[in-house]
Amino acid sequence: MAKLGVNIDHVATLRQARGEFDPDPVEACRVAVRNGADSIVCHLREDRRHIQDDDVVQIRKAVKCPLNLEMSINPQIIKLARKVGPDYVMFVPERRQEVTTEGGLDVRRHFRRVQRAAGDIADSGIVVSMFIDPVQYQIREAQEAGAQIVELHTGKYANARTRAAQDRELSKLKKCAAYAKSRGLIVHAGHGLKYHNVSAVARIKDIDELNIGHSIISESIFTGLASAVRRMKKLVS
Ligand code: PXP
Repeated sequence: MAKLGVNIDHVATLRQARGEFDPDPVEACRVAVRNGADSIVCHLREDRRHIQDDDVVQIRKAVKCPLNLEMSINPQIIKLARKVGPDYVMFVPERRQEVTTEGGLDVRRHFRRVQRAAGDIADSGIVVSMFIDPVQYQIREAQEAGAQIVELHTGKYANARTRAAQDRELSKLKKCAAYAKSRGLIVHAGHGLKYHNVSAVARIKDIDELNIGHSIISESIFTGLASAVRRMKKLVS
């Protein structure tokens, strides 16, 4: 049974639209946890477009379930993560102009920097996760660079335009999840998962947790966050 990590970034996106105090991401975390979230995910982007440094501090204080902090390998953000102490740090690639995290981290290309960043995080007792495309060599490189968890990018599956393409992407996710698990890694997955496409990924037995944000926060506008989380939790588990 897969666990559900709820990404609350877009609660902060809405708050930043006004630059005031509401809606409060910390309260969103509480509601998510009360309604079935197994962990909370937030992404401290370099441009601080949604989550702010103090959000991470306050969420860490308020949330008792595992906190998964998504971030780049930027040294300033690494410093903050070590200070705040989330349960997991998930390294993601980051391009300032992108709307969302468009692809996985190219661990092979940036191996030394990623390895150094992973060492700094692990030295603080934080578990290191890496967000990668479902490709076997990236799984190997991530593990060699210090990942204990790999999160497989489900964007290509979610955006596939035909049934055949979706099946192909699903099959890659299955194979890569099994491969990563056979190497002793914990496997997470996420990106672009929605109420209508999540079940097939949730059924992949080697995937331990799905991290989902945009669709839950979007649904919450119409039905409320508690109901949106409960509905996703049912589909995931
Ligand atoms: N996992 C990672 C690593 C992400 O970067 C994101 C997007 O912030 C998600 C999961 C959640 O994606 P979505 O918002 O499309 O559900």
